[in-house]
Amino acid sequence: MAPSALRSGRLRLLVATVATLAVAVPIAWMWENSLVPDTYDMATMGYHDYGGGPHGHRHDHQHDHAGTAVADLVEESGRPADVSVTLTVRRQDGRYTVNGTSPGPTIRATVGDLVQVRLVNENIGDGTTLHWHGVDVPNAMDGVAGVTQDAVMPGDDFVYRFVVDRIGTYWYHSHQVSHEQVRNGLFGALVVDPEDPDPAVLDRTVLLHEYGTRATLDGRPGTTAVDALPGRPVRLRVVNTDNVAQTVWVTGAAYEVRAVDGTDLNGPEPVTGKGIEVTAGGRVDLGFVVPPGGARVDFGGTTALTLGGDPSGGREAEPPGELIDLLDYGEPTGTGLDAGHPDREFDYRIGRRLGFLDGRPGRWWTINGHIFPNVPMYMVGEGDVVVFHIDNGSGEPHPMHLHGHHVLVLSRNGEPATGSPWWVDSLDVATGDSYDIAFVADNPGLWMDHCHNLPHAAEGLVTHLMYTDVTSSFSIGGRTDNHPE
Ligand code: C2O
Ligand code: CU
Repeated sequence: MAPSALRSGRLRLLVATVATLAVAVPIAWMWENSLVPDTYDMATMGYHDYGGGPHGHRHDHQHDHAGTAVADLVEESGRPADVSVTLTVRRQDGRYTVNGTSPGPTIRATVGDLVQVRLVNENIGDGTTLHWHGVDVPNAMDGVAGVTQDAVMPGDDFVYRFVVDRIGTYWYHSHQVSHEQVRNGLFGALVVDPEDPDPAVLDRTVLLHEYGTRATLDGRPGTTAVDALPGRPVRLRVVNTDNVAQTVWVTGAAYEVRAVDGTDLNGPEPVTGKGIEVTAGGRVDLGFVVPPGGARVDFGGTTALTLGGDPSGGREAEPPGELIDLLDYGEPTGTGLDAGHPDREFDYRIGRRLGFLDGRPGRWWTINGHIFPNVPMYMVGEGDVVVFHIDNGSGEPHPMHLHGHHVLVLSRNGEPATGSPWWVDSLDVATGDSYDIAFVADNPGLWMDHCHNLPHAAEGLVTHLMYTDVTSSFSIGGRTDNHPE
């Protein structure tokens, strides 16, 4: 070979090698950087602190044991339980049951009660937990594996104790491998009654859930008929345990949306011919009076409930052309929350891009451009008024759920909320939409803030709200058994 050919051959090889490294090294770095370390611990690793205001700081709790540990944030121990239940969970043929059924039993309490639940894991090999969705429990009772407790392994148990200090409709579900366990049955309802519930009201709770591809109402497909005399007032509590929003509508009677996510609305006006969307993980309570011909409630089209007859004669009722918009539904009143001068303000921008999530390549959800675990952890101090600007440019809707707090919707796409105060724990954010929400940081701890389309959480749409003086002793991923998503 002529020397010049040799030289150009070597040059080509050199150029090819450099070009390969130029691609491979950053990819290897991105891969490495995406791994959730073996000792991954919420309070010390991965997260970028997004500051968010005058008190914002980079958090580094690694050697800071001065704060309160998550595990110590419990309900006072001496008080006896008012409601005490044991829930035994079991896995069989890929399905999960609670005390032998799915949905599990509805837990019913009166406002102010101390509820005590003993969770027993009979045989779920991955371990399990119970999270009290919408109940602002003390942090150690929140039931998130790797964040507030360790997963409860087969043969083990865990006792949850918390005071239910607000009336309303809530639910419980596993927060360990939740995208699989919830989908396949590990959930139930929790209803908190006022001191003196009106005995004349027919109070009914229904859980919407798709098992596989079969839509059900309380575990049954099709139409469920309920006896009721004309004139009977009804409060229908609808719990959406699915991964996507469901539209609910009433035929034969005008209805009101009495409550959203456990909070009563102020001055809800009766509507006809309109539907109401129930966010994934969210709840709505509907109120109406049974008319002489009966009332029919449709849920997403394939399941229905009839009360005192079926005004549509057994035919599937027409889905409504219009939806109630909670942004201007009901009457405004005081909220006790002044969001005009927040102590902290954060962006929660949801997107999607190519990258690595814990070493797996894919198109993952991003928060402010980052992929889990390199996502912002939102730091707050107790008593702070906090405002979030949520913006969804990801191409899909996301039902966003913050644990431990109820948030007030301030505006959507810049348009202020003008109806009843709209408090939520689960907010459906359509793609292209932005919301400003506010809350008071009044429940110290380390709280999940994630998408309740649970496969999305497993695909990285999850972060945490953390109080500055709190330290965590639990870890996720790696060698632990804790996999909350
Ligand atoms: Cu209903 Cu983090 O959950
Ligand atoms: Cu989502």
